[in-house]
Amino acid sequence: MKVITHNRPTIDKEEICAVVEALSSLELTVGTKAGEFEDRFSRYIGIDSVATSSGTSALHLALIAAGVNRDDEVILPSYTCAAVAYPVLYQQARPVLVDTNYSDYNIDLNEIKNSISDRTKAVVVPHMFGYPADIQEIKEFCCERGVFLIEDCAQSIGSLHDGRKVGVFGDISIFSFYATKMVTSIQGGMVCTDNKEWIETARDLRYHDQQCSLSDARLKYSYMMSDINAAVGIEQLKKLDNFVKRRREIAGIYRDEIINVEHPVEEPHKKHAYSRYVVKTESKDEIIQRLRGKNIICATMHSPPLHRRSLFASNRQYPNTEKIINTSISLPIYPSLEDEEILNISDTFNKIRAGL
Ligand SMILES: Cc1ncc(COP(=O)(O)O)c(C=O)c1O
Repeated sequence: MKVITHNRPTIDKEEICAVVEALSSLELTVGTKAGEFEDRFSRYIGIDSVATSSGTSALHLALIAAGVNRDDEVILPSYTCAAVAYPVLYQQARPVLVDTNYSDYNIDLNEIKNSISDRTKAVVVPHMFGYPADIQEIKEFCCERGVFLIEDCAQSIGSLHDGRKVGVFGDISIFSFYATKMVTSIQGGMVCTDNKEWIETARDLRYHDQQCSLSDARLKYSYMMSDINAAVGIEQLKKLDNFVKRRREIAGIYRDEIINVEHPVEEPHKKHAYSRYVVKTESKDEIIQRLRGKNIICATMHSPPLHRRSLFASNRQYPNTEKIINTSISLPIYPSLEDEEILNISDTFNKIRAGL
């Protein structure tokens, strides 16, 4: 029986031809394609963009651009990808982990309010699983308190908040094009901001061989996006609207078919892009095991949560994050998933849940 994987990138002949063309051009590092991807992305998002080697490097550059330095505090959620916290440590700054909303998996504004201090330099807000956080309210609070808002859109390209694309609310935002993301360049990332100085900083620091002046004492990195990766990213970006449409169709089928679970929330002013379809249920470990036995691969995302890892360990309580870890199951969702597979997953899930 065919295994239904948790992820499956959609790579067609367009991506393959684009790679062959980019390789044949011999512009292997940051060249015409990387520039074209940045231009197309800037047009898509509406602000300036700099392409990078990954979402993690994009976030690192965003923190540097925002002036995050040693001993500054950066607030971020306990429930997210570890790649959100690592770059804070690269800057020798302090990640301050806060709890997450149980309902939508996103950072809790009240927790941000309770955790802000005069050392807080920035708040990083990942829009989890393709669902926008309460970004407008968080933005207002950050403005009031004079701290920078960094939007992490690694999981959420294509999501809308009040009809606006995520990534335009923050002082700076980042995207990831890792293999499992909504749109992939195999690996890659993007830094976006309308702050011209910050964009120049990101562009300048991503390349170790960028010569400015002899007095330039800043550390440089090797965070460029290759033209080969950019060529794939360009083709994928063209398909984004169709990808989101199909993901939303799949989500609609799961919502109709799977019973006795908590489905993802979707409020009228937010458009979910469903990079993941995560449901909550009792006995989630057993259900995941039994689904695996039926060749359906599901997962608990971001486990163990950051506050339980030694690098980020914290004495605070994270009851919602813990509850999410204990109840959540991420189901297969990707554009190439066929209706027959979705119905099979739903039916198998219901039967296991019902103890059949
Ligand atoms: C929310 C979030 N931020 C940042 C990253 C890092 O992106 P990358 O894997 O491209 O470094 C990821 C995931 O991979 C992520 O899920």
